[in-house]
Amino acid sequence: MTRQPLSFDAFDEKISPRPEETDFDRVVGNALSRRGFLGVMSFGLGAFVAGTTGLTRTALAATDRFGFEGIAASTADTITLPEGFAWKPVVLWGDPLFPDAPAFDPETRGTADTQARAFGDNNDGMSIFLRDGRHVMAVNNEYTNLETLWTAPETPSEDDIRKGMMAHGVSIFEVRQGAEGWEVVTDSPLNRRITPETEMDITGPAAGHALLRTEADPEGRTTRGTWNNCGNGETPWGTYLTCEENFNGYFSSSDPAQEIAPDLARYGISAEDWGYGWAQIDPRFDIARHPNEPNRAGYVVEIDPFDPAARPKKRTALGRFKHENTACTIAPDGHAVVYLGDDERGEFLYRFVSDGVHSATGDNADLLETGRLFVARFAEDMTGEWVELTPEATGMEAAEILIHTRQAGSAVGATTMDRPEWVAVNPARPEAFVALTNNRNRGLKPNAGGDETPVNGPNPRAGNEYGQILRIRPDDEDHAATGFTWSLFALAGNPEVHDDAFAGSGNITAGNMFNSPDGMAFDTTGLLWIQTDGNYSNAGDFAGQGNNQMLAGDTVTGEIRRFLVGPRECEVTGLCISPDRRTMFVGIQHPGEEGGSTFPGGGLPRSGVFAVTRRDGGPIG
Ligand code: FEO
Ligand code: CA
Ligand code: CA
Repeated sequence: MTRQPLSFDAFDEKISPRPEETDFDRVVGNALSRRGFLGVMSFGLGAFVAGTTGLTRTALAATDRFGFEGIAASTADTITLPEGFAWKPVVLWGDPLFPDAPAFDPETRGTADTQARAFGDNNDGMSIFLRDGRHVMAVNNEYTNLETLWTAPETPSEDDIRKGMMAHGVSIFEVRQGAEGWEVVTDSPLNRRITPETEMDITGPAAGHALLRTEADPEGRTTRGTWNNCGNGETPWGTYLTCEENFNGYFSSSDPAQEIAPDLARYGISAEDWGYGWAQIDPRFDIARHPNEPNRAGYVVEIDPFDPAARPKKRTALGRFKHENTACTIAPDGHAVVYLGDDERGEFLYRFVSDGVHSATGDNADLLETGRLFVARFAEDMTGEWVELTPEATGMEAAEILIHTRQAGSAVGATTMDRPEWVAVNPARPEAFVALTNNRNRGLKPNAGGDETPVNGPNPRAGNEYGQILRIRPDDEDHAATGFTWSLFALAGNPEVHDDAFAGSGNITAGNMFNSPDGMAFDTTGLLWIQTDGNYSNAGDFAGQGNNQMLAGDTVTGEIRRFLVGPRECEVTGLCISPDRRTMFVGIQHPGEEGGSTFPGGGLPRSGVFAVTRRDGGPIG
């Protein structure tokens, strides 16, 4: 059994190592690198078009919209903030969410039953909702660190495996401001754990398709559970969207001669799981026995956070891939528009436009039920188009497009991207930002579908180890328009180590540099908050960048300032702001994933949600 002790990125490096570099690769890589960089330069960019033209490393706009002084990089095992700010835990992995659940026990780390009644592990995307005076948080629990979760990682018991399962899913709970700050209301009737065992509906045009039918569900319309819930989203009608990302790592095969069909291989399904062992306790994770089960994961799931009895709905209309997050907005004519990234090297960026229109006073419950799904194709002249995934364009039937969405994107020649992580829609003007976290295969290796991944406009560096942030402006200021223009808001890099394209764009300095942008969200003032999930070695190409961090970007001037540095070996992911704007909730995931942290309590490291406030009680975000 190959166990995944580390975050997905670190693990993936081990199971799919970079191809052996030959002299030929090096020559090609260097050529692509130069060409890519020159390509960017030749657009005269100030590469980064609107707002940042003319920006230099030292001459940034004078206007200060930040409300804080940027802080230095750090390798401290704590949360570091600017002067005048404070942080405090709200909820940590294993904390009880119900009155009958015991306190977390760091010796045993709980059982399957206690974990099912407690906050899950490795929290990621999250939202806070306010209705009738009650604040409810919905938080994704993406995965679990088996080395931390289990006391005997080499010999997990059946209960250990089930405990791992219960550490996944979504935690929904009421919070309130007590004397000590934000706290979980454990006796709230709104509290709910959604796990890989929770019954839910498969909805939309693919529901009922033969590829979704199983022994347990011959109709292909209901399923159990959601797992590897990564980024999130929320809708203007008050529902929570949770996104199934690396769902493949939980399936395995009991057949020693198992051959993986190409349609499963495209999604990374293999005969071995990533160490979770779920097939040992639940045969639906055994692809030899239940080959259609993987087709029932990889969706966006819509949840009503105020109705604990409401069945979550997997929305097939939004396609099946390794969903990072959703960024939902309403187009001028009322259609709901959802931007969607597929986080895999060389996979695509998508957009959904609903068939129905949003009603401010009516029922929007089924707005994500049907619509049109598009994939992005970028041109070198800094324009692009959304290509609709229709049967005519793809040669696939309509329902299959929503199940084998990656294959549909390949069929229309979508642009291969450097791992689209979060998309964020600017509330201040019609534009969307996309975090392209990194892609060491760019220019070197095709994607899993065989599509070549040459350096291209929005992905301008071969062997891209730092990532970039892309800006998309829809034509006619309409998020539902077919065409768009694009530019790069930031190319992450290290100007202390490199003097080529890997130094980064003009708004990257020795004082704010970072790698691997991932989580992103706008606040109400239009500042773009950027969270990182990158290399935290603080050495070599990453020297001076310290631990993973959170920064804020002024999308008008292009200036970026570092706001928060996380503890050691963590990823900073998940962000939401209280309705009164006095608290920013920030997620810290997998501190000490390599054994080098005792955050936050000085003992066993634990993921959690942290409240960040101004000491003067002023607004934040
Ligand atoms: Fe779960 Fe792509 O991050
Ligand atoms: Ca992420
Ligand atoms: Ca990531």
